[in-house]
Amino acid sequence: MKNFTLYTVATAMVLGLCFTGAAIAEVDKGAPELTLTSTIDAAKKAKPALFTHAKHQEKMECAECHHGKDADGKQVAYTEGMKIEKCESCHNKAAGMPDKLTTFKEAAHANCKECHKAKDKELAKCEVCHPKK
Ligand code: HEC
Ligand code: HEC
Ligand code: HEC
Ligand code: HEC
Repeated sequence: MKNFTLYTVATAMVLGLCFTGAAIAEVDKGAPELTLTSTIDAAKKAKPALFTHAKHQEKMECAECHHGKDADGKQVAYTEGMKIEKCESCHNKAAGMPDKLTTFKEAAHANCKECHKAKDKELAKCEVCHPKK
């Protein structure tokens, strides 16, 4: 009887682990590399940015960049599995975002460029993200 109980517990634990594993594998991590460009407030002369998504994911939490918005327009912290929208779907001129966060450029510079600057000023150079053609 004792062995049976142990067996049941062990099986439940293995199954539990499998399910946890499956749940982690299901989180959509998006493309490993992206070329970011604004489409809503598109500039006359586009200045696309290279973004090594996967390399950043190895170094930091998703929450470093991703978040949501509630009905009152307040920021909602990232939670695993939440719907990930394009930055510009909230950070655009028509959305009434606060100063310095009103466009994709401003939001991206506040997120990407500020971290780069804090790490190493070489990383904050335009060409790091906007490579010359
Ligand atoms: C350093 C910032 C950063 C980190 C860290 C990050 N992402 Fe992203 N992610 C972005 C940006 C920027 C986009 C493109 C958004 C846009 O097009 O406006 C994006 C897009 C996505 C997309 C949309 C699909 C796609 O490829 O366009 C998914 C899904 C996603 N990220 C999931 C994740 C998950 C899950 C994590 C954590 C494991 C993560 N991201 C970590 C910045 C980041
Ligand atoms: C669903 C809407 C939404 C999306 C999508 C979104 N943001 Fe935001 N973001 C907000 C809101 C709301 C705030 C808070 C603004 C305020 O201070 O009132 C915010 C604040 C910020 C800030 C200020 C610092 C902070 O974290 O509080 C930065 C930087 C930022 N967003 C960058 C980004 C980037 C980069 C992306 C895409 C990877 C993104 N946002 C996607 C809604 C969004
Ligand atoms: C929280 C810090 C942080 C944020 C936010 C961040 N980065 Fe980075 N990024 C780094 C660091 C650190 C490196 C240098 C990595 C290395 O040398 O190993 C880097 C490197 C890069 C590189 C050079 C290629 C590479 O992967 O080494 C590009 C391009 C880049 N980042 C673009 C972006 C863009 C675009 C965003 C915003 C969507 C962004 N980064 C947001 C920290 C950050
Ligand atoms: C750490 C990455 C990073 C660095 C460094 C950086 N940018 Fe950006 N920049 C972005 C991202 C991401 C966007 C939003 C996507 C886009 O439109 O390119 C952007 C947008 C822009 C835009 C708007 C382009 C458009 O099509 O709407 C301009 C202009 C711009 N950046 C100029 C600069 C200049 C000038 C520098 C150097 C002083 C610089 N950026 C440094 C990441 C960076």
